[in-house]
Amino acid sequence: MNREAPDRPPATTVPLELECATALAGILIVHRDGSEAARDLVDGLRQTRLVVRDCDAAHALSQVDRGDWDVVVLDARGGGEDAIALAADIRGRYPSNVLPIVMLADASLRALQQRAFDAGASDWIHGDADIAEIGRRLSTLAELRRLRRKSAMEANRFGAELSSRSLRLNGLIETCIAMSMSRDRTALLQQVLSEGRHLLNCNGGTMYMVTDQGTLRFELRTRSDLLPANEIPLHDSATGLANENYVSVYTALNNRSVRIDDVYAETRFDLSGTRAFDAASGYRTVSMLTVPIAPRGSAPIGVLQFMNAVDPATGGVVPFDPEAGALVEALAAQAAVALDNMELLQSQKELTESLIRMLATTIDAKSPHTGRHCERVPELALQLAQAACDASDGPLKHFAFRSEREWEEFRIGAWLHDCGKVTTPEYVIDKATKLETIHNRIHEVRMRFEVLHRDLEIQKLQAQVAGTWSDAQEAAHLDALAQLTQEFAFVARCNIGEQPLGDEEVQQLARIGERRWTRHFDDRLGLSATEMERRAQEPLQTLPCSEPLLADRPRDVVPRPPEQRLDPAFGFRMDMPEHLYNRGELYNLSVRSGTLTAEERYKINEHMVHTVLMLERMPFPKHLRRVPEYASTHHERMDGKGYPRQLGPEQLSVPSRIMAVADIFEALTAADRPYKQPKPLSEALGVMQRLAGTHIDADIFNLFLQAGVCLEFARRHLSPEQIDVTDTTPYRASGGHA
Ligand SMILES: [Fe+2]
Ligand SMILES: [Fe+2]
Repeated sequence: MNREAPDRPPATTVPLELECATALAGILIVHRDGSEAARDLVDGLRQTRLVVRDCDAAHALSQVDRGDWDVVVLDARGGGEDAIALAADIRGRYPSNVLPIVMLADASLRALQQRAFDAGASDWIHGDADIAEIGRRLSTLAELRRLRRKSAMEANRFGAELSSRSLRLNGLIETCIAMSMSRDRTALLQQVLSEGRHLLNCNGGTMYMVTDQGTLRFELRTRSDLLPANEIPLHDSATGLANENYVSVYTALNNRSVRIDDVYAETRFDLSGTRAFDAASGYRTVSMLTVPIAPRGSAPIGVLQFMNAVDPATGGVVPFDPEAGALVEALAAQAAVALDNMELLQSQKELTESLIRMLATTIDAKSPHTGRHCERVPELALQLAQAACDASDGPLKHFAFRSEREWEEFRIGAWLHDCGKVTTPEYVIDKATKLETIHNRIHEVRMRFEVLHRDLEIQKLQAQVAGTWSDAQEAAHLDALAQLTQEFAFVARCNIGEQPLGDEEVQQLARIGERRWTRHFDDRLGLSATEMERRAQEPLQTLPCSEPLLADRPRDVVPRPPEQRLDPAFGFRMDMPEHLYNRGELYNLSVRSGTLTAEERYKINEHMVHTVLMLERMPFPKHLRRVPEYASTHHERMDGKGYPRQLGPEQLSVPSRIMAVADIFEALTAADRPYKQPKPLSEALGVMQRLAGTHIDADIFNLFLQAGVCLEFARRHLSPEQIDVTDTTPYRASGGHA
């Protein structure tokens, strides 16, 4: 066969200029030059009703490329080598499963048969074979090729469908995972609606949620316009019957999806609302799918409604695909579980926070002296933390709470900052006079003065009855009574503790205490078992007996139980007094400053020990693990002399330092102790200015002033008389970095 241009075009050769828009098909006969034999072959095959085209060898490749041939027949009767070469060229472009090549040859070329197969020929037919036989074999090959091709197309279509389903399933799984991790309800709802619309390939969707009032509320929709404010009652208010004529209500009450192929032909449900919407908007709703949002086995908590599924091929509106609908049902069920979990988590979080607030307000309510300290300190601390987060320059510019969880952690820490005070006895917190325990023991002391006074009067009366009373004795008597009055006044004044005591006053108390009075009654009657136990070591006295006016007795010492010793595992560094309490009258009255003994002062400070013990033993979740730190460091100092652990600045975080400033300012400006008026702002800021750098962080204190947190808090919580400062600049600490 000559593969060059033929001498003349064969009669049936398809001219190249007649290329059609669509691919040619059938059987392509490639011959050398339109020989008689080739023409007979073409004509003969056509008579067997085969679709046959032919071309010369020179145009063979281009013709092969133009068509979608069932079989290419290479007529080798004009030249075997050329035909084999052409077979190799064609096979190089099209594999045998795509295009069968048949060699038509006469007996003289039999030797080339193997080479022809090696070159890519699919079959070898003798050219002198019967036309009908040739036709049958070509038909068989064509049919085989069509079947193979159909099978391949099926496989492709199946693969594409599988791939599409796999993509949808993967998308669904990813959405479900994202939903289960989501903490934002609005984002989750939007994700459900958006993913549902994507799975269904539809125009739009609406989400309703079931309310506690038994209605369906419009929650969300894909259109950006305002949601209708009205709600759809699940039941008729007059009859109590279910409003199942509304498809959304039907879905919610029956936990069942509803598919409507033609909204305007629908008779089961009242879709007048949809039609009215169409009329007003110019939109045309055709198909609709309504799916319940329900956790498996539970009643729906909402409904998803989608409109107008779109055929991706044509772009026309079609009924919703049931298979995609099933995927959306699964999505809605997963969303319901995620929402359920989210609401459960939210309610647990709210319960936890309310329990924490209840504890704080209980502590506040325990003592009038703390007032609303546990409530106000978190408020102030949060404002100060916000100012620190907002600072774009200065030493705090890098500080920030980076998530709502970090804020939550700080907020809870602030609310719990004095939780240990729940263990502090009220009479210690409230101790307003030196002799106060559960009650003010000044009355007991005063009664002894009364006894002494009465004894003097009795002595006088007895002398007068005996006729031995003299004027000199009267003068001494009056002096003695006056002295008693003065001494009691002195003791009472010491009891109040307004003025610090010096050595002289302490010695005078001791002198007054040495006075004796006579006890006629057994002082071991009417005592509790604990009181009796503490008197075990005191000797019994014969009545009547002489008693000192004021005394420190063994019974006044309350020993510290072993379990109240500090646990070294917690790293506390506090000077713990030996005794739990010492209620000695002289011991208490001789307190140099304030009203608290060393034991009671420790008892007050011990609230931090209990705060640590309570919180560090609690199983806080990971995102709240710093709550104990934030709650337990507000009495630590920048110079490392604070309590309960004497932490240094390198161990005190910014939130801890904020807590210290908030705690001190609130305590200074609130009603502190009952015998003290709350400090005016100028005095409180003056005190804090002096504490800056040693007790509190100077940068935080300056931020407290500069950011306006101080004045804002003062305006909200301090009395107008206290606010005697309008410019806080003079109170700024010099030790800060700002
Ligand atoms: Fe505290
Ligand atoms: Fe506090």
